[in-house]
Formats: sequence, C-alpha cells, structure tokens
Amino acid sequence: ATPKYYDFVLKESNFTRLCNTKSMLTVNGSFPGPTIYVNAGDTIYVNVHNQGNYGFTIHWHGVMQPRNPWSDGPEYITQCPINPGTNFTYQVEFTTEEGTLWWHAHSDWTRSSIHGAIVIKPAPGKTYPFPEPDGEEVIVFSSWYNKDVNSMVDYILKTGTDKSLISNAYTINGQPGDFKDCSKESTIRMNFEYGKTYLLRLVNAVMNRDLFFMIAGHNQTVVGWDAGYVKPVTTDYIFISTGQTLDILVTANRKPGEYYMIATPYYDAVGTDFDNSTASAIFQYTGNYTQKAPYFPVFVPDYADMASARAFVERLRSLASEEHPIEVPMEVDTRMFITVSANLNPCPNDSCAGPDGYRVLASLNNISFVNPAIDILEAYYRNISGIYKTDFPDIPPVFFNFTADDLTTSNYTYTEQATKVKVLNYNESVEIIFQGTNVIYGGEDHPMHLHGFKFYLIGSGVGIYKNDTSTSSYNLFDPPRANTIVVPKNGWATVRFRADNPGVWLMHCHFERHFSWGMDTVFIVKNGDTAETSVMGPPANMPPCKYTPLLHHV
Ligand code: C2O
Ligand code: CU
Repeated sequence: ATPKYYDFVLKESNFTRLCNTKSMLTVNGSFPGPTIYVNAGDTIYVNVHNQGNYGFTIHWHGVMQPRNPWSDGPEYITQCPINPGTNFTYQVEFTTEEGTLWWHAHSDWTRSSIHGAIVIKPAPGKTYPFPEPDGEEVIVFSSWYNKDVNSMVDYILKTGTDKSLISNAYTINGQPGDFKDCSKESTIRMNFEYGKTYLLRLVNAVMNRDLFFMIAGHNQTVVGWDAGYVKPVTTDYIFISTGQTLDILVTANRKPGEYYMIATPYYDAVGTDFDNSTASAIFQYTGNYTQKAPYFPVFVPDYADMASARAFVERLRSLASEEHPIEVPMEVDTRMFITVSANLNPCPNDSCAGPDGYRVLASLNNISFVNPAIDILEAYYRNISGIYKTDFPDIPPVFFNFTADDLTTSNYTYTEQATKVKVLNYNESVEIIFQGTNVIYGGEDHPMHLHGFKFYLIGSGVGIYKNDTSTSSYNLFDPPRANTIVVPKNGWATVRFRADNPGVWLMHCHFERHFSWGMDTVFIVKNGDTAETSVMGPPANMPPCKYTPLLHHV
C-alpha cells in the first residue's frame, strides 16, 4: 500500500462544556481529535507540529510498531518531548492489528484532550469474520475537566492525594449529554435505519475510570477487542477499561424512536470521592415517529458492581480459528510475579495531603518508576550508562503482606523510587502474574497496558493467586488477546506474550493518576541474531533531550 501522510497541529483553543469555558490543547482544533482510517498492512506518517506552550509526545496505543520503538511515543521512555515550535514525524506501521485502536498524548496529563480513534479495516480483498455491517460509528469516551489539567497534576504529585483530580463530566464524542448542566443542546445524536446492522467502535479514553456502556432496548454483540477479533458475545451492557477498545454490532430492530446510549463509571474503591455522573448520546431511528423522551436503559450496573464487570470480561474469547489462530506460548521461559499497588509513603516535604499526612506512591513490585532525563531507548541504543538499572525484580523484592486488609503504614516496606527495567531475550516467552494489593482505599482495579505487544489473558480471579488452584483455571485454548487487561480489585490476572519485538517497551497502569505516581516499568527486549530481528536505527530528527518546563512523574 502507498503510505499515507497526516499533519497533526497541536495548539490551544477555547472549549465550552457545562457552561464553563477554558483553553485546552487539542490536535487540529477538535475534541476528541481526528479519526485515522487505515487498512491492515498500511504504513502512515504523522507529522506532529507543536504550537503549544510545552513539550509533549504522541503514542499509537495498541500498534505493535515492530522493531520501531522510536515512533512509539512515551515521554522519557522512547523519546524526549517534541518542544514548542518544533515538529516530529511518527512512522506508524499496521501489521496484524484489525479493528479499532487509538492515539493519545503520552506526556503529563495532556492525553485528556489530545486523543482520537484509529479505525483499521481488513487488508484490501479481505473481509471481517462477521457479516459486513450496513454502517459504522466511532464512539470515543473522554473526561472533561473544568480546570486546567496540568496544574492539577502538579498538585497531586506534590501532595500525594487525588482529591482534586475528579473530572466534571464524562463525554461521548466530546459531549456530556442530556444529564449534565448546559449540555442538552449539544448532545450527540447518531442516526440508524430500521432493520440495519451497525458496527460501533468504542474507545475508552477517560483518564481515571473504567466504564459501563448501555444502549436502551438494544443488545450489543461484541466482535472485537483491542484490534483483534473475539467470538461473538451478545450482552445488554459493556464493560470497558480506560485504554481499551471494543467493536460491537448493533441491529436497529426495535420500535423506531430515540434510545439513550449511556456511559457510567465503574469504581470499586471505598471512601473516595469521584465523578459518578452519566454521559449520554442518542441512538435515533431515521424516519417519522412521535416520542416524548428517549428510552433509558432498563439495566445499568451500579458503579461498584464488580460482578458485572468481571462477568463481561470472562465471556471474551479469541476466535482461535484457522484464519485467526492463537499463538499463546505453551512453555514459559521467564515468569514474573508483580504486585500492583498504591501505598502511603513518608512525606518528603511538608505539603503532603494524603491520608494521615502521608503521600501516595504507586508501584509495581514496590518500585515506583522515576522518569530519567534522557529517554531509556536513547540510553540503551547509545550505551549511555547511569540512566537506568536492569534489576527490576521478578518477584516482590521484600516481604510485602499484600494479603492483609487495611495495612497500616507500620507493617509494610515503603516504596522504593527508582528507574529499574527488565531485560528480556529476543523471542523468549514471558508470563506475568499481576497481583492487585490492598493497601489504601480498600484496593481497586488496575488496567495494565503493555506497549509493543498484545498479551494473552489466560486467567484471572479475585483474592490471592494460588499456584495450584489458579493455574488449573488457565485457558490456553482460546484466551482473549489485548493490549490492556484489568487486574481485578484485590485479585490477580495472568498474561503471556512472546518477546518477539526488539526494543524498549513501557508497561503501566492506564489510570493516569497511578501512572503519574509511578505504576510502570519498562521491558528492554534484546535484538535477535539477524538485522530483521533487531531494532531499527533512529530517524534523523528525534527530538533532543533537554529540559522542558513540565517534567512530571513523582
Ligand atoms: Cu494508552 Cu502508555 O498508553
Ligand atoms: Cu492502577
């Protein structure tokens, strides 16, 4: 296919929602940003022009970027920020991905307004593994904040509390909908013709919450997850974590009229304030009918309905067919046990406002990742020493009683702040058992996202992972494959992947507050023996690593 070229111009402009006007950074002046349409096998070039006031980067969420971490995007992991007044061209190569993905800023909290969908159709001449839909729509869920987001980030990082991070609304394609102040006039309406079937492409770009999504009166059939096909699952509600994408089929076969599509948050932690509002849009039939108000969904899971969230995920399975085979590794070369937690830690200054005067650090294996001043990829590729250490542990490094409820600050080891990565050999098979822990807020779930790969979710459960019983529940036959999987609240999840993509790849919780507090680590996958199994050279115009005004991350 001939490459396609795009220009992304990043600049500030005014947006009004909830009767509140503020200036925010967007791509090409739209919120959410432009949708990119490609076919499997395409390569695109996106020239990103920074006309804003601080540095930032763009990540192509869920695109494998084979051998090309240079265009992956996470700030201080694979590149330094694109500075104001400069530009950088990303090369984005689509190989096996098919379905829906998205792009977003990967610096500070700028992704709140800098994100958009990526639609990947089958390669020319190929078809979907389901009947060709009559039409399709992209549905992007986002967060709206009345205040400037970056100043809020400064506050949480300094004080170690997330009290000020509460969004003011969730939005569907940029609009809060009928149930929020001053929003009714601008509620998104989508037209559907009676008797036709539509493919809806859902993207959860919300900053800090997973969502439930319902369409009044209509079942939805899930056919894709994170740009891979799944066995069709018919349901009356969807659960989608931040970072994830889902493709669903909906047939307009009800009485012609107007039906609400709604998104509500899933949040299972106790005792914290959060935005518990409902975003809405209208699914409207074409043609003539009279109706007083749109129908509302009969079943809406409660925000703490963990059973519904889990039941949804447990139904998803790969096609595992001849045309769409699975490649889950049957043998494991490297097994890692990673605790995922947010802990109270001593206050480095007198400005902490977390519980009991402590501050929160988030961690993997009790290590809170600190961003280096030069990106890890640059340091790795050019052999610059002293930027990172390679001793990220395969098991929790110290005694850490994650089984106890309500730990107090006296009985766990404080979190270490460090830049530690894990080195993997080319093509080895890796298993990770994530264990959610229960230190503050009574625990909560974590959407873990891996760059450069998709992992197979072979098992998950509530409570503590147990070698014998948990392992016997593994699905190695048709496990779903995703770039973002949910580690249940105080539960575990096991994933496998093959390290067949040499480079430097970030893994992190997709809740922005947890990521900011250090819930991330990096995999360096070594080169194979040949040029075709080695990292490409860098493009000529990589942004230089120098100080930019906002240097966040704990
Ligand atoms: Cu969607 Cu590292 O992120
Ligand atoms: Cu998290």
